[in-house]
Amino acid sequence: MENKIREIVSAAREAILTAADPAALDAARVRFLGKKGELTAILKGMGALTAEERKAVGQAANEARAVIEAALAEKVAALKAAELEHRLSEEVLDVTMPGEKRPIGHRHPLEQVLDEVKEIFLGMGFDVVSGPEVELDYYNFEALNIPKDHPARDTQDTFYISDNVVLRTQTSPVQIRTMEQRRPPIRIIAPGKVYRSDAVDATHSPVFHQIEGMVIDRGVTMSDLKGTLDAFAKRLYGEETVTRFRPHHFPFTEPSAEMDFRCFACEGAGCRLCKNEGWIEILGCGMIHPAVLKNGGIDPDIYSGFAFGIGLERITMRRFEIDDLRLLFENDLRFLGQL
Ligand code: DAH
Repeated sequence: MENKIREIVSAAREAILTAADPAALDAARVRFLGKKGELTAILKGMGALTAEERKAVGQAANEARAVIEAALAEKVAALKAAELEHRLSEEVLDVTMPGEKRPIGHRHPLEQVLDEVKEIFLGMGFDVVSGPEVELDYYNFEALNIPKDHPARDTQDTFYISDNVVLRTQTSPVQIRTMEQRRPPIRIIAPGKVYRSDAVDATHSPVFHQIEGMVIDRGVTMSDLKGTLDAFAKRLYGEETVTRFRPHHFPFTEPSAEMDFRCFACEGAGCRLCKNEGWIEILGCGMIHPAVLKNGGIDPDIYSGFAFGIGLERITMRRFEIDDLRLLFENDLRFLGQL
């Protein structure tokens, strides 16, 4: 009997020692100490023994049980420690690993060029002002010398909100709003969004940006206009920039002109960039029509002024040599990131 018990103990030790996980360890416990376990079977068979033998075997069996339980407890602790060790090693932070880089954004090309334009005009003593994008027909057209039946209304495909309210088709209404609020001398630029019901293509968009400019004072002349806008073009595109003024017509200026600059790619010879013209148009301008000054509450017999309207998309496309307007609005970061 006692030999049998020793065998059981050494088998149990072996099983416990080699148990690789809690399940195997539990199986060993059941096999030796369980209700139908090997050691229990010995205790159950003790009835056939003499009192003396029973005592000796009982003692040996109890000792064996204690030994096996101790081995089990030790192994449970060892498995737990190993498990913890494993978890810690999995969770370890390698602080020397490179971090995840977050891409840094940058300013949209339209904003970059607008900032430059603002900087240039601020340097010449202009203020930056703004006006509403939802505008009264009066400011967008009437007060600018564009009455209801004027053909200029057809060329600016207007989004009407109601009979008297439009999405502004130009930033020029800010001229009148500014005249109503300020007394000369006035020097302002007014950048902002404008809307026209155009289908989207490489050169058209139903929403785009203009930068309106206006100067009103005593004795302002066409040469002030030319000098100011020529200086602007040179700051924007470089000192070597050559400009020219072409007669044009706008209802709110008289005389009116468009300013071109000589194509920097071909220096006037004609190329793909300037569509063989040698010159690239960049803005409309003119001396403010006396009727428009009057509408703004300014006496045209005392004051005169000039105004201009720059297309922000146009000068931005020239700056970055982009040939499709849509690239500026589609917000493809792979494209924008290059500018
Ligand atoms: N408002 C004109 C347009 O949208 C641009 C313009 C031309 C503005 C001449 C002016 C100007 O202030 O004097 O086509």
